Amino acid sequence: MTEPDYLARTRTAWGEYSKSFFEPGRRAWASEEITWGIWDAKESDLCALGDLSQYRGMKTIELGCGTGYVSAWLAKLGAEPVGIDPTPEQLANARLFQKEFGIEFPLIEGYAESVPFPDESFDFAISEYGAAIWADPYAWIPEAARLLKPGGRLVFLRNHPIAVLCTPEKGLATPTLLRDYFGMNRVEWNADEPEEFHLPHGPMIDLLRDCGFEIEKLIEIQAPTDKVIRYEYIDAAWASRWPSEEIWVVRKRNS
Ligand SMILES: C[S@@+](CC[C@H](N)C(=O)[O-])C[C@H]1O[C@@H](n2cnc3c(N)ncnc32)[C@H](O)[C@@H]1O
Repeated sequence: MTEPDYLARTRTAWGEYSKSFFEPGRRAWASEEITWGIWDAKESDLCALGDLSQYRGMKTIELGCGTGYVSAWLAKLGAEPVGIDPTPEQLANARLFQKEFGIEFPLIEGYAESVPFPDESFDFAISEYGAAIWADPYAWIPEAARLLKPGGRLVFLRNHPIAVLCTPEKGLATPTLLRDYFGMNRVEWNADEPEEFHLPHGPMIDLLRDCGFEIEKLIEIQAPTDKVIRYEYIDAAWASRWPSEEIWVVRKRNS
């Protein structure tokens, strides 16, 4: 596959963003608790991953691994992770953390739309704000399906479409719908930032099913009212009323 047209811009931007994701990445590597997204929602409350003992010996792939902390958590559970990411600076930070925390696993420079592994190489695929918002779902979800063994699971966290509808080009999410829902997928917030992908729920369900997935869970995350975060597009006052993030848990059909 030729490189997607949006990728060069995304990669350049993430080369810059990687500086501000270094310390949060290190904190996540150091954490003994698995958490999700910008509100640090606890896995022990959400149960997106299911029984954690099942990950021992599992072959996992993280699509858009960034600093690699999600794969490090899976490694601590006994999994055999692989991380893939297109941004060399993010992978360099991941390698530093591997040394610092003594957890090593393969890190591949590449992109989720075309992953250099044979069909059915993995038991589990995950994306926490990696491919899930930076890659076209019509390219990366079929690729995830190809990579998974029958019965394998894909779990991904992304922005909730409601939050995307209510967020202006710059500034905090509002209680007002600001863009069209129908036809939404490729989203450009402004000329300074790379494009993102935010497919609404109906087409996402169709796509997942067309790729051979059954949907097991859609977890809509509610923020705690008092949490202060470092991001400038959403606050807890909004995200405790409406979902700003969601986790999809889907399983590849056996036949
Ligand atoms: C918010 S970070 C991922 C967070 C990750 N959980 C971490 O540990 O840092 C987003 C990542 O997606 C990566 N990315 C962007 N486009 C991608 C693509 N097409 N395929 C895979 N990863 C991509 C970026 O390079 C960046 O490292």
